[in-house]
Amino acid sequence: MGIVGQRFVITGAAEGMGAATARLAARKGAKVCVADINVEAGEAVAESIRRAGGESWFIRCDVTDDRQLVELVEGAASYMGGIDVLHNNAGVIDSMFGDKAAISVETYDRAVWDRVIAVNLTAPMFAAKAAVPYLKKSANPSIINAASTASFVASPSTLAYGSSKGGVALLTKNLAVELAPCGIRVNSYCPGVIDTALVERYRRSVPNPDELVRNFTSSHLVPRLGNPDEVAELVCFLAGDECRFVNGVNWLIDGGMLAWRATRDVIGM
Ligand SMILES: NC(=O)c1ccc[n+]([C@@H]2O[C@H](COP(=O)([O-])OP(=O)(O)OC[C@H]3O[C@@H](n4cnc5c(N)ncnc54)[C@H](O)[C@@H]3O)[C@@H](O)[C@H]2O)c1
Repeated sequence: MGIVGQRFVITGAAEGMGAATARLAARKGAKVCVADINVEAGEAVAESIRRAGGESWFIRCDVTDDRQLVELVEGAASYMGGIDVLHNNAGVIDSMFGDKAAISVETYDRAVWDRVIAVNLTAPMFAAKAAVPYLKKSANPSIINAASTASFVASPSTLAYGSSKGGVALLTKNLAVELAPCGIRVNSYCPGVIDTALVERYRRSVPNPDELVRNFTSSHLVPRLGNPDEVAELVCFLAGDECRFVNGVNWLIDGGMLAWRATRDVIGM
């Protein structure tokens, strides 16, 4: 039951929720391929899993490169004897690529837009394309995408991020339809504000970071930031045998953020 013996490929697994999911999945008895552009941190995650008695391999992969995606799934399938779960977790946010000027509409840099869409939206599609031949051979195959509360509502300074995550929510449903005949389930998780490096980068891009985080978390009915391990539990649940009837779902894990409405002071009005 659960995910014992399942073979996971997790992109963006060197840090944050990807790393937390890699560690938790391995503790629950899965084999895990850690994929990332950050070689040092990715190797360290795989090594820490092996030291704890789990089975894990690191494969360097830039998810925006189709050839590297194909090499990732080929490598992962040869290390693990197949693939059961493709976890499209790698993600970037606009503010990582420039100062505040770079993320206003009038000065928005096209290269930033293209990069965010490529990593967050295009890569899950082409990773799915590469992985489907392997997933078809699995007894309980699924694809799990990183969507967001930003899939459904806007936030300041996240033009490309919000657009990409809106796309991921519908990509999830469209892939679920397309892959249903092969028995491959496709779901996403939609976190609120989770305490990871991505949020730390976003904080650094705004003039009043503490106020911003206070504002965000003040819309969490559970009054704190989310923890990456809590999201990891959801991903493992969605992959597991207990969820065989769950398909095409964008599953909120947001401390209740989207259960109600926040106020204009978030954007200084
Ligand atoms: N942290 C949050 O509050 C939050 C909320 C909602 C959704 N999400 C989404 O969840 C996912 C994980 O977020 P996180 O906060 O753990 O992020 P993070 O920044 O902690 O980790 C992201 C990982 O992705 C890797 N990565 C970036 N570009 C890559 C590329 N081209 N190829 C391969 N790997 C790449 C990074 O090296 C990093 O290890 C992302 O898709 C993010 O958008 C995060």
